[in-house]
Parts: sequence; structure tokens; C-alpha cells
Amino acid sequence: MTYQNYSLKQLQQIDAAHHLHPFTDHKELREAGSRIITHANGPFIYDADGTEILDGMAGLWCVNVGYGRDELAEAAYAQMKELPYYNSFFKCSTPTPVLLSKKLAELAPKGVAQVFYGSSGSEANDTALRLVRHFWALEGKPEKNRIISRKMGYHGSTIAGTSLGGMDLMHKQLGGAVPNIVHVMMPYAYELALPGESDHDFGLRAAKAVEDAILEAGADKVAAFIGEPVMGAGGVKIPPMSYWPEVQCICRKYDVLLMLDEVITGYGRTGEWFAAQTFGIEPDTITTAKALTSGYQPLSALLVGDRIAATLVEKGGEFYHGYTYSGHPVACAVALKNLEIMEREGLVDRVKNDTGPYFAQALQERIAGHDLVGEVRSIGLMGAIEIVKDKVTKERFLPAGSAAVTVRDHAIAQGLMLRATGDTMILSPPLIWTRETIDMACARIAKALDLAQADLRKK
Ligand SMILES: Cc1ncc(COP(=O)(O)O)c(C=O)c1O
Repeated sequence: MTYQNYSLKQLQQIDAAHHLHPFTDHKELREAGSRIITHANGPFIYDADGTEILDGMAGLWCVNVGYGRDELAEAAYAQMKELPYYNSFFKCSTPTPVLLSKKLAELAPKGVAQVFYGSSGSEANDTALRLVRHFWALEGKPEKNRIISRKMGYHGSTIAGTSLGGMDLMHKQLGGAVPNIVHVMMPYAYELALPGESDHDFGLRAAKAVEDAILEAGADKVAAFIGEPVMGAGGVKIPPMSYWPEVQCICRKYDVLLMLDEVITGYGRTGEWFAAQTFGIEPDTITTAKALTSGYQPLSALLVGDRIAATLVEKGGEFYHGYTYSGHPVACAVALKNLEIMEREGLVDRVKNDTGPYFAQALQERIAGHDLVGEVRSIGLMGAIEIVKDKVTKERFLPAGSAAVTVRDHAIAQGLMLRATGDTMILSPPLIWTRETIDMACARIAKALDLAQADLRKK
């Protein structure tokens, strides 16, 4: 069964008739018709019309080694022939999750050396939530179960993921969140820093919000703080360097566990294997997924710190939790090969020492000065462009979010896939991008901004 027997129009019609998409206004999509992506190679994706588009989002923050990697297809094929599936329940294991666990323990920050597998970031965060509450119960403190998170945080779309996240629009559709999760301010200096407040001081103030939430509940009632090292879906909000070390200090002071959600930042995006290393912190759990396989297979790995693992193993008995596909042999085979490619090609180092700094400089020199741009910011190969009506006052266009969508649509028409979140454009390209690819992307963004400006001024 191949799609080539169908015309683009037929595929769009069938899509509209039967396919419910994630995070989509279906009426709007069905009227417009979906863009059908049929193949991809290196940094480019191609739609059914044959249009070549530079992928500025690495799929959905995941295709870190780029497209068209035969080695990953071969790893999956070989594993499927040998053992397509077996579970890791009832005292069994298969070789690839065993070896992947060892590899992840080598790459992870100090003191984080155990792994629990799932198939998605959302699942991994469900596991993380259950695990930290279970940990405190095993420690004889079942009432220490409040989780502190941040407004605009994104931790997935299951009920636990949505509850952990701080997205109001998602909460409104939830019909009842997981209890005892509270949300504090995000470290977003562009909008929340006070006049004259330094980045450093703002970072400390945003961290203080975590302490205030702990004190409000009482430290004996707070299990953990969870956050994305760099908020991704919320708009690539990069905290000041003072933020995370201070949050870690506060967590340690009150014996609150530190949970990092590295579903986006894990596996090289910020120029280290994990953003925990970029920000110099030692979390108790690290949620990872996406780039673990570069998106070639669905797989998540919750990395668990020694303290939690020791209690779980020594005092836990059976942990009544797990998924059919925990430690899926094919997904783990692909992950192993993916990490091998990243190491062999030195992709993480390249982001740290070459493409990351070049990307930052290119955004500053070629994009920041545009009339529509309030701020550009980046860390590693993860960037944001704030779209504003007035650079000085930071006034936005109305209705909220519409200007960024205009820029995005022009960018795609120029051959660059990027994303709009609210009034922020976000970029998260494959780590194989070179200086030349960054030049190409910046030229397309600049053109898109010019065209968008002409449209927006007309309104
Ligand atoms: C930080 C973060 N956590 C969790 C998730 C959820 O991952 P998934 O969509 O694989 O369930 C995402 C997805 O974008 C994410 O960005």
C-alpha cells in the first residue's frame, strides 16, 4: 500500500474525512487542507507538490541528526528481524534497552544513572510524577506531595502532563486536573523584568517565586519542583544564568526534589548532552524523549537520580507502573545508533563551539534590527524572535498572535519551516545545520519579516 497511488487532493480529502490532528482547529484545517509532507533528506523536508522546505524546527524539536539516515533505518530493520518486540515486565529484558541504559548513565549528569522507558515525553512525565510522589510515600512522608511548576510550562498532553504544565487554554479543556500542582512565575525577562532590573537579579527573583511557593505550602508538603531548563513550547524562554543554580539551592534547602523536563533540551540542543550540564545543576529526575532517537522511533527515557532509585529499589517492593512498550527493543536499537552518530559526528560539540555561537551572532546581526523584532535570543541551536509593533514600548499587534502567524506563513512560503507561539517565532533546527544553513535560514527570515511588515502595515 503506497501513498503514490493517491493524488495530493485525494490525500487531503481523506485526511479531512478521518484524521483528527493534535493541537488543531479542525474546521479551519479541513477548509484549508493539510500540507502533506512526503519525504525528507538532510535538513530539508518536501511536500506532496515537491516543494523543498528547510526544516527550522527539526520536525517537532526532535530530528537532531537530520533526515535520511540509512543507518537508523538499518538498525531498526535488523532489530525487527531479530526481535521486533518483547516486554520488560515479568523479570525479562532485551539487549537494546540494557545497553541503552548503560549509555545514558554515561552521558547523564553526575548522580543520575537509572532509566525508566516509555514512548513519549508525556508518558515519561506521568512516570516522573508518580515516581516522586511514591518516593516520598516510601520515605514515610506521603503528605509531601505538592508539585511546583511554572506558568506557560509545557510537560505534555496527557492528564498528568497537562496538569504539570502551565498552559491555561489546556487547563480549561481538562475537566479536572491532577490535584496539588501549583504554578509560579516563569523566568521570562523580556516581559517580566522590572524597569532597570538586571538579568541576574531578575533570575534570582524568578527563583524566589519557587521558594515562596514552598513556604506557602510548608516544605513538609512539597515533593518537587519541575521545569524545562529552557521553556520550549511556551516560546523558547531562556532563563538568566542565575536562575537554575538558585532554584537548585532552594530545593536543597527545603529538601524538595528537582525535576528537569529535558524533552526538548536533551541530547545536544543547548550545546551539552543535557541542559542540566549547560546550567550546572544536578537534578533528581530528567525527562527525555524526542531527540533520543532523533524522532525516528517513539521513545522516552526518564533518567532517575541515585537518591530516588535507592529508595525505590531498597524500600519500594513492586512499583505498579509501566507501559507495554517500556524499553521497546526496536526503539532502543535506533536510540543507540542515533547516539553513536551524534558522538561520531561531534554534533553536540559543534553546537557548543561553532554553530550555536554562529546562530546567536547571525540572529543578532541580521534579524534583531528589523522593525518588527523586539528581541532575539538563543542558546545552542534553539532560538526565539519576539514580534512587536513597537520595538521601544514592546507593544504587540492585535489580535494577539496574529502577527507571528503572518511571519510564519511568509517564512514557509520562502522555504523555511518555523513555528509561531503567541507572538514569538521559534527555531529549533536539526543539529546538522552548518553555518551555510544558518545563513540560508536568516536570509529567509529577513525576507519573511519584510513581507509580513508590508502586510501588517496595510491593516
Ligand atoms: C518539555 C516537554 N515535555 C514534554 C513534552 C511531551 O512530549 P510528547 O509530545 O512526546 O508526549 C514535550 C513535547 O513537546 C515537551 O516539549
